[in-house]
Amino acid sequence: MNFDFTEEQLMIQQTAKDFALAEIAPTAVERDKNAEFPTEIVKKLGELGFMGMMVSPEYDGAGMDTVSYVLAMIELSKVDASVGVIMSVNNSLVCYGLQKYGSDYLKEKYLKPLARGEKLGAFALSEPEAGSDATHQMTSAVKEGDHWVINGIKNWISNGQSADYFLVTTQTDSEKRHKGVTAFLIEKGTPGFDHGVKEDKLGIKSSDTCSLTFTNCKVPEENIIWEVGKGFNFAMETLNGGRIGIAAQAVGIAEGALDAALKYAKERKAFGTEIINHQAIQIKLADMAINTQAAKLITLQAAAAKDTGKKHVKESAMAKSLASKVAVENALEAIQIHGGYGYVREYIVERFLRDAKVTEIYEGTTEIQKMVIARELAKE
Ligand code: CAA
Repeated sequence: MNFDFTEEQLMIQQTAKDFALAEIAPTAVERDKNAEFPTEIVKKLGELGFMGMMVSPEYDGAGMDTVSYVLAMIELSKVDASVGVIMSVNNSLVCYGLQKYGSDYLKEKYLKPLARGEKLGAFALSEPEAGSDATHQMTSAVKEGDHWVINGIKNWISNGQSADYFLVTTQTDSEKRHKGVTAFLIEKGTPGFDHGVKEDKLGIKSSDTCSLTFTNCKVPEENIIWEVGKGFNFAMETLNGGRIGIAAQAVGIAEGALDAALKYAKERKAFGTEIINHQAIQIKLADMAINTQAAKLITLQAAAAKDTGKKHVKESAMAKSLASKVAVENALEAIQIHGGYGYVREYIVERFLRDAKVTEIYEGTTEIQKMVIARELAKE
């Protein structure tokens, strides 16, 4: 097994690191405080090719592999996990989903500007009563001539206020459960399509999350993704890749928390010496480093499986389960090492905890990941 990165992968990692420190870090604290969307940063990420990293150059993407994407996601999320999720949704849910399952027409019209970073995408599967139980879709789409008329509500949509294009699942035949689900691409500004207020979240506050409402919203037939009745399979297949992106985001948070704790432990003195010399702190730092490395390796393994065309259902679920747990644990330990300073906003470690928690929830809760893993184990 080869654990070496290629020169190109290392270059992408370095570019992401430099960009994160120069362009994201200076405004991260203020944007978190004010729940402000990083519009300029997202624009610059597009110019760097980071908004369509895995899209083929034929569709104006950067043509990179998933391993490179994971390395970039880690570096950006280490500094600001809000930027991480915005980038992750556009790359691994929207661009990937369109490239794999969209028609030539959809790819030409919508994927190209998304991959260039000129337009932003969102993925709308969840509903008020369909979170973990995602087959329970209530948003309906009814065919009328060469259009479909959509009615319903979507919930917890990342990039919901800022996105231009939305991949939306609907129920087109309620008799058929998930085989009656159909996905559409819907443009912002389509009559009958509106978004709700920005959710006041615990963390990733610089990203925007809101509900979407559809009231007799007419969408053309050619905006169907894949085909009628394939919307749920489209969402699940796409989420397998999305979960690798969120695992990478969680690894970034875990690394950020470890770096901050290490730096503080080397500077802070107690009982006549830097606290890194105390065994209680050493054990915490060592455990954080072991767990971070394990989370990073399992995430890269899932990415490598995807890149080599292997099935990665179990691998991506395992990566997300472990990495999100490590992100939360590392953030908690980083706060503990900082003591009282860890509990105030002035030091960044409390943000790591607030941001880490959602990685155990979105793109499938840890409980759902374990269900997916167990079902895959049962098939072996
Ligand atoms: N990969 C591929 N196909 C999958 C799959 C996976 N990981 N999981 C399920 N499927 C397929 C099944 O094979 C089946 O398809 P076929 O009938 O064609 O074979 C179909 O989906 C239905 O599966 P089940 O019969 O097993 O349905 P279920 O209701 O028992 O379980 C579930 C489905 C796995 C729980 C699914 O509902 C699920 O993953 N829930 C979590 C939803 C989720 O991840 N939401 C995230 C929202 S997006 C988001 O968070 C983005 C963001 O903003 C950051």
